[in-house]
Amino acid sequence: MPLKDPISFFSRWPFLRALRNRLRRMIPAHSGHPKLKMQVLETERLVLRKFSQEDLKDIIAWEEAPSAQDAEAQAQEFLNYCFREYRGWGIGPWGMQLKDTRVIVGNCGFPDIIFKSLCGEVNYYVAPKHRGQGLALEALQALLKFGFRDIGLTRIQARCTVDNLSSERVMQKAGMRFEGLIENAASSKDPGPKQKLYAILGKDFDLMTTGAPDCSNHATPPSEDRG
Ligand SMILES: CC(C)(COP(=O)(O)OP(=O)(O)OC[C@H]1O[C@@H](n2cnc3c(N)ncnc32)[C@H](O)[C@@H]1OP(=O)(O)O)[C@@H](O)C(=O)NCCC(=O)NCCS
Repeated sequence: MPLKDPISFFSRWPFLRALRNRLRRMIPAHSGHPKLKMQVLETERLVLRKFSQEDLKDIIAWEEAPSAQDAEAQAQEFLNYCFREYRGWGIGPWGMQLKDTRVIVGNCGFPDIIFKSLCGEVNYYVAPKHRGQGLALEALQALLKFGFRDIGLTRIQARCTVDNLSSERVMQKAGMRFEGLIENAASSKDPGPKQKLYAILGKDFDLMTTGAPDCSNHATPPSEDRG
């Protein structure tokens, strides 16, 4: 089945960055959120880990670009964004590395976490030639587990444009539930396309993965290393 994905990987990040910055402005800088520790996460076929400069070649291969120079510049811009996130917040995009070939085939992460309400948002990207093998689902499941069990979130959401059926399928298969359509205000300069909002609560994730609610204190985020 051909995958129809109008959202190009690189065009997604400026939008996410703008959204994140807007949310950060709403949270005072001194609000005492913990600086998170990025862990290596493992799934059946993937190792999810921090990006390093050595990954540039794999990132360049994700998408076709008008020229080799453009491809390298875009890939480097993405890497720089990751490094800034790691420095500033402790976590940032995880690279999805295939266990068998060690190639980095995509990325995923938490573009937003609101500690006050213990809510997070996830996103994921798999390079076109590696799609349709269930890799996004594997990565999303690992992120949900990390978000609920390690960060201590109580609700995790994800969004996709209304025609992004493969992404919607991934959310559904991970147990996320449709909550509604998001439409930006018509007055906004760039209202963008309508999006579908999906979410899952920690207690439902626990029920789904273990069959029993997790009674540990979700309201206490890890605090070894505060920023
Ligand atoms: C969305 C995305 C991550 C999916 O990656 P993937 O590795 O192919 O995802 P999976 O293989 O885990 O699952 C894809 C599912 O969508 C289904 N699917 C694919 N195209 C579809 C379509 N046109 N209609 C309906 N279902 C479709 C697949 O059949 C599969 O479901 P199945 O396992 O039940 O058969 C990938 O397309 C991508 O990176 N897109 C660009 C970035 C993006 O849109 N991210 C999501 C928003 S955060």
